[in-house]
This record gives sequence, structure tokens and C-alpha cells, in this order.
Amino acid sequence: MKALIAVLPGDGIGPEVVGQGTRLLRAVAERFGHSFELTEAPMGGVAIDLTASPLPPETLALCQRSEAVLLGAVGGPKWDPPAKVRPEQGLLELRKALGLYANLRPVAPFPALYDASSLKPEVLRGVDLLVVRELTGGIYFGEKRRDETQAFDACVYTVEEVVRVVRAAATLARTRRKRLTSVDKANVLETSRLWRAVTERVVREEFPDVELKHLLVDACAMHLIKRPADFDVIVTENMFGDILTDEAAMLSGSIGMLPSASLGANRRGLYEPIHGSAPDIAGRGVANPYGTLLSVAMLLRHSLGLEKEARAVEAAVATSIEAGTLPADLAPPGTRPAGTEEIGTAVLAHLGAHR
Ligand code: NAD
Ligand code: IPM
Ligand code: MN
Repeated sequence: MKALIAVLPGDGIGPEVVGQGTRLLRAVAERFGHSFELTEAPMGGVAIDLTASPLPPETLALCQRSEAVLLGAVGGPKWDPPAKVRPEQGLLELRKALGLYANLRPVAPFPALYDASSLKPEVLRGVDLLVVRELTGGIYFGEKRRDETQAFDACVYTVEEVVRVVRAAATLARTRRKRLTSVDKANVLETSRLWRAVTERVVREEFPDVELKHLLVDACAMHLIKRPADFDVIVTENMFGDILTDEAAMLSGSIGMLPSASLGANRRGLYEPIHGSAPDIAGRGVANPYGTLLSVAMLLRHSLGLEKEARAVEAAVATSIEAGTLPADLAPPGTRPAGTEEIGTAVLAHLGAHR
């Protein structure tokens, strides 16, 4: 097949991990006989430096005409407050402009990495969960105001915004263990009371075969590290999903492991590791690219419909990890960690491609 893929390396370690992602995409194209046209564009801090905007119109237009977007990470101390325009605004605008309301963040720790986690192996055994984070609503996108004495961030959710993300999550639950946990703060927040009522109705009426439970977000944060194997699909609002997935990343051993797919009404999607630009390690060639490589697998599956290729990538990543090719954030003490590029090369070799 032919596909146009936009590549936004971004800031910090973004270009380092995305460099391995594009190598992998080219190798998949060659090995399976596809033609992927990869086009790079500036976004985030680099785009601010070039054009004063974190999401230049040309970058957005490229993403809109592409089948999928692969992104590294944006942000860094150079553009921190008091800077007026922030790199992160570009990412939020992109998600909103492409209508990507459902952010899929799977967490399935590799047994070879149990020892790298801060949790005990017996807690990690059998963990295979998927967080579906609402991505274009809530406190991220409400009205903001600030004066000398106070600041204000509105959190707004409409019924329609909740309905569509809950449908997406319940549809995914049907392909898995059919258990859905909706996470909110309905004991305090009005938006959460709406969230809970709508979720209850949508699941009861449209997904009677899916078992629905509700959890308050503070308790969910606890259960995620106490009994993570009990979860199947978790659906939650934008900010709770952001926070809970950084926490859940610790089940996998490192934040560098988790991929994500952001999807909307059509097949176009945005794929990025859940971590940030990691300014503390940027430029040294040591960043963990596995989250990006697994995001490439999600891109192949969700936007291009290439399930066989997605599985081949996931198998190559698993083999590389089992073979002990581990970056500095995962390598056991006393062992030599593998660099970013070395890991990319290992995964390509396991895919049966050499590029
Ligand atoms: P971060 O995820 O960048 O880093 C947190 C810690 O995890 C750091 O110690 C970092 O070195 C480590 N880490 C992250 N990814 C890693 C990888 N692939 N390999 C090895 N170690 C890794 O979070 P932060 O420090 O809070 O944020 C830094 C910047 O990134 C901020 O400007 C933030 O806004 C931005 N950010 C961007 C995204 C995104 O683009 N999607 C996501 C999160 C944070
Ligand atoms: C993420 C990041 C972003 C978010 C920031 C950089 C805007 O933390 O993708 O998880 O909060 O959504
Ligand atoms: Mn985050």
C-alpha cells in the first residue's frame, strides 16, 4: 500500500527516538512491499524558533493530508515560562484540529523487565491494561484567565464528548476481556457526575455485554499499583488520564516504554510515546526508543490497517528486549546499556530487515 506519513520530531530527545521510528517504518515498507512517503515538519519549540508558532500552518496542513502522524516530544527549559508561546500549545492545537478525542495508552509489561520496575514481579504478572484518555476536552481546553491576584482554568465536558470516548473505550473492551473501569471524581466535580451518568447510560444501553465499574481517581491511583492485573480497559477524562498513565508507566519499568495512539472519527491518527522531551538526557544518544517503536506498531495497526506488520514490529521489540538489548533507564546495574541507535538496529535485525 501507499501512505503519506507526517513526521514531527519535536524537541529534546524527540528527534533521537523518532529517528529510530522512521528507520523502522522504512524497513517495514521494504520488507512487506509498501510505499511510505515520510515528510518531516517542525513542531513545538523548534517551530517557535523558526516561525514564532509551535504549530505552523504548513505543519498542520501536512498532518491533515497525511494518513498518520508520528511525533517525538515537545517542550524544554528554553521555552518555559515566562515565554509567551509554549511548545505544548502546538501539541494541544494539533490534537484538537485533527479531532483526536481518544488517546489509547496500552500498558503490558514485558516479563524480562519485571526487575526494572519498582514494583514486585508478583504484582506485575498478568498486567495487560489499556487506558483510553479523553484528549480534546476538560480542563486542558476550558477558558483560562489570570490577573495579579488569581488564576482560573475551567473544566468543561459536554454529553457528546463523553459519549464518543466511552463508545471508543467500550468498543475496544469488547475485543479484550470486556471489562471497563470508568475513572472520575464524582464525589466532588460536576463534570465527573455528568461523566458517570453518561458512561452508565451508554454502556448499559449499547454495550450490555461489557462489565462496567466506576472508580474515583484517587482510589484508582492506588489500585493501579496495588492490583494492576485486575484492570482491562480504563476510560477517563483528559487530565486524570495524563497523570494515571505516567504512574502506570512504572509497571513497565520506564516511561520510555509506553506508546500511544490518538484517534478520532476517521482513521487518521497521531502516534507518540507518552514521555516528554527529557531535557536531562537529550543529545546523548541514550534515550529509550521502545515507546516510539511500539507507537509505530500502533500506527501500522490503527491508521494503515496493517495488522500483520504491526505484530511483526511488536514481536521484534519483544525479542530485542528478551535478548537483553536495554537502554540506560532499564539496564540492570553493572551491565552495559544499549544506545538509542543500537536498539533501533537490533529491532530491525529481529524484523528480518537491515537498514
Ligand atoms: P519527561 O517525560 O520528558 O521526563 C521525565 C523523566 O523521564 C526524565 O528523567 C527523563 O530523562 C525520563 N525519560 C523520559 N523519556 C525517556 C526516554 N525515552 N528514555 C529514557 N528516559 C526518559 O517529563 P518532564 O521532564 O516532566 O518534561 C520535560 C518536557 O517535556 C516538558 O517541557 C514537558 O512539557 C514536555 N512533555 C512533552 C510531552 C509530549 O510531547 N507528548 C509529554 C510529556 C512532557
Ligand atoms: C502528554 C503530555 C502532554 C499532555 C503535554 C506536553 C501537553 O504530558 O502527552 O502526556 O499533558 O497531554
Ligand atoms: Mn503526560
